[in-house]
Amino acid sequence: MTTLTLLCILAVVVWVGLTITLRISNREKARTGDLDLVDSITTKARIIATFQKVALLSSIILLSALAFKLYHDNTAYMEPHILEWINLVVRWTHVVFGIAWIGASFYFIFLENSLNRTEGLKDDIAGNLWALHGGGFYYIEKYKVAPEKIPQHLHWFKYEAYFTWLTGFLLLFIVYYFNASSFLIDKEVLDIEPNTGVAIGIGSLVVSWIFYDVLCKSPLVNKNFLFLVIMFLFTAGAAYVLCNVFSARAAYIHVGALLGTIMAANVFFVIIPSQKALVQAAKDGTELDLTLGQKAGLRSLHNNYFTLPVVFVMISSHYPSTYGSEWNWAVLAGLSAVSIGVKHFWNIYEQGELYNRWLLPAAVIGLIALALVTAPSNPATRLKDAPAVSFQEVQAIINERCTNCHSATPTDKVWATAPNGIMFDTPEQIVNMTDRILNRAVITRTMPQANQTGMKQEERDAIEIWIYQGAKIK
Ligand code: HEC
Repeated sequence: MTTLTLLCILAVVVWVGLTITLRISNREKARTGDLDLVDSITTKARIIATFQKVALLSSIILLSALAFKLYHDNTAYMEPHILEWINLVVRWTHVVFGIAWIGASFYFIFLENSLNRTEGLKDDIAGNLWALHGGGFYYIEKYKVAPEKIPQHLHWFKYEAYFTWLTGFLLLFIVYYFNASSFLIDKEVLDIEPNTGVAIGIGSLVVSWIFYDVLCKSPLVNKNFLFLVIMFLFTAGAAYVLCNVFSARAAYIHVGALLGTIMAANVFFVIIPSQKALVQAAKDGTELDLTLGQKAGLRSLHNNYFTLPVVFVMISSHYPSTYGSEWNWAVLAGLSAVSIGVKHFWNIYEQGELYNRWLLPAAVIGLIALALVTAPSNPATRLKDAPAVSFQEVQAIINERCTNCHSATPTDKVWATAPNGIMFDTPEQIVNMTDRILNRAVITRTMPQANQTGMKQEERDAIEIWIYQGAKIK
């Protein structure tokens, strides 16, 4: 079966390689304008096109048959496998679009911050910038409002935002909603029905957007500092509520998702419609409403400040000391504050404010303080007189609570292979992983995942004592 799979993949690869090569060589020849060549190329092109269709169709048929057989023979193992690959493709796409979107946000805010707004400007120009990138010189001008005639080819930046949001929302379903009882809900946090959880999750995105949008339409939007404080308190509050409803990781992801939703909705409901109205007015030659551009610009600036907290949330699942902390919601709020500070420093630095001396050091101090606040407590006072715990006891606990996932032959319904490749089948495997076991099962209590196997505190204590006493097998 694996040989057949490999052959199929090989066929597809050969086909893609062949096509691309021929395409490029044809375009080269066509460009030289050799008519004889062009004639022979059209025949050749037809042959290639037929070949492509046949190859494409046969690959699809072959792969579908293969997929059906694999699925039919071994549904229990194939379901998680298929889910993993869908997850891979969607996450990959999500990250790529996210990079494109955030990259554009960084770039345009940089432009806005760095424009030359004083020297040698034409009347209708707000500023310009010379740049050098990839061996080319670029000259960019920003109009005060709009050019007299709207150019035919005008690039809009919107699909990056839409696709980032759509793939993100899809991921939320694939990872957290599809298996809500395993990933979204943690019965020790709050025992709710999976469907209720999903409704709360989606509801939190909608409510956040409405809250933010109303705030933006109120006079508060012009009071920068107050606006920032209110939005910050709202996000911290949302983190607090969500951390008391969902499993810790799901709560974190939802805070990221609600900020991401605000960002995408800003593009969809405000920035793009404002731009459309501007373009239309310029085309019709009617009076341009200057506030439209300003509104869009402000939302775009808000988005820029949301980026760093959102990016942290997206990588947070690798850092159990953050989401696994007893104060996880406050840690998230703290890291958001720190990163907004960094983004602000970054922006004013680009604007040429070189003398701000406190913002960056304050952010660094905040970061160090958070690392210290989340530090594990010293076990010596608690554990020095604890009775001895044997390896047999620990192995029994791990067999009961961990190896249904962490084994060469997992029995869990979601994990067909050991998560992160971590297995606890043999004493050596357990002993070699004591550092990570201590971190995940004792200190941050982020394992077993959403405590699905119902691990008790006494069992965590026993593992801690065994490790404290030297983690000996005998
Ligand atoms: C329901 C399945 C499940 C159970 C039960 C489970 N884990 Fe995990 N474990 C996972 C998943 C999924 C990951 C990867 C995601 C993550 O790191 O949170 C993981 C990751 C880990 C890691 C991280 C390794 C790394 O890459 O740093 C450790 C350590 C770990 N588990 C230990 C344990 C221990 C100890 C137990 C039992 C007390 C346990 N797990 C029970 C699913 C499970």
